[in-house]
Amino acid sequence: MTHRIALIPGDGIGIPVLEAAMRVAEKASPGLLEAESFPWSCDHYLQTGRMMPEDGIETLRGFDAIFLGAVGWPEKVPDAVSLHGLLLPIRKAFVQYANIRPHRLLPGVQGPLRKDAFDILCIRENTEGEYSGAGGRVHQGTGDEVAVETAIFTRTGVERILRFGFEQAMGRSKRLASVTKSNAQKYSMVFWDEVTRELAAEFPEVQVSHYHVDAIAARMVMAPETLDVVVASNLFGDILTDLGAAIQGGLGFAASANIDPTGKSPSMFEPVHGSAPDIAHLGTANPIAAMWSLVMMLEHLGEVETAARIMRAVEATTARGIGTVPGRDKTDEITAAVLSALEE
Ligand code: NAD
Ligand code: IPM
Ligand code: MN
Repeated sequence: MTHRIALIPGDGIGIPVLEAAMRVAEKASPGLLEAESFPWSCDHYLQTGRMMPEDGIETLRGFDAIFLGAVGWPEKVPDAVSLHGLLLPIRKAFVQYANIRPHRLLPGVQGPLRKDAFDILCIRENTEGEYSGAGGRVHQGTGDEVAVETAIFTRTGVERILRFGFEQAMGRSKRLASVTKSNAQKYSMVFWDEVTRELAAEFPEVQVSHYHVDAIAARMVMAPETLDVVVASNLFGDILTDLGAAIQGGLGFAASANIDPTGKSPSMFEPVHGSAPDIAHLGTANPIAAMWSLVMMLEHLGEVETAARIMRAVEATTARGIGTVPGRDKTDEITAAVLSALEE
């Protein structure tokens, strides 16, 4: 069965890493993915005044999944314009409320902690919270200037992401860490804690720990083996997953899936990293995060065998030390190594 995929390479290293991942997909299972590519990016904005066309969401709705590289190039377009013009509206419009970010060490990758094992599954709320976009500015340019940005936490939003986290915990080690800042944020985060307790009663087998975001950040570094499934709000999850990426060896390894668990809308798969303007001209972007995101997309599409074969080829590549030191190997060299590992 062929799956129709919308490709959005975007900006900077989004373009080469997506191309690398698609070469791997085609080699692993020729014709399995029928991809249509969309040039939506900061350059597209400069040409058309929009990051994507007005009917962009409707166009994407017809696909089985979306595969995105990275968006943003602050020298060309302010980040708040580019990200609110493309990535964030897709997550919201398709109710991709569960952002799944696996953080584990691949074979041959040591990471800065020099631990043998590091394996955390971060579940990040992806449609509301601190990213609600509710707010405003008044008295601009005066000494009385005010900027307000309101975080919105709804029962629907909090309950569904926590339920998703509990279900994930049931399929893993039955340990769930809930992340808040309820010592300082006395409405939204206290609410989050309450809903966590309600769901804990529904999942009595799951051992629940409550952490403040500052404390769990330290714990991820000092005692990561005490953590398994970590559920966090949009902004806290964003920050903790760059930390998770660093611990797993760098942003070049961190994959993600933006899932609509109801299956009503297409889900979106993308590396955690951005467009990396600092290295975009060097040809050294690590494509492994994009390849791992491809694996998550294939699993989501039910192509578990092809997904497993690609993951084994990626792991065989890192086990040989290829792609394991940021900036050393070229994107093309890493890709060639994965392509040849697929033949083994
Ligand atoms: P970034 O993730 O692009 O880069 C952070 C650091 O990690 C840089 O030093 C970069 O060189 C390195 N890095 C990232 N990916 C790498 C890879 N695959 N291989 C090797 N090194 C890698 O974050 P940033 O610099 O804060 O953001 C740059 C732009 O990307 C901004 O416009 C930002 O808003 C955007 N952004 C987009 C997404 C997305 O589309 N999902 C995610 C994060 C940032
Ligand atoms: C990510 C990114 C985005 C986010 C930005 C680019 C808006 O950092 O996917 O982690 O914060 O969600
Ligand atoms: Mn991020």
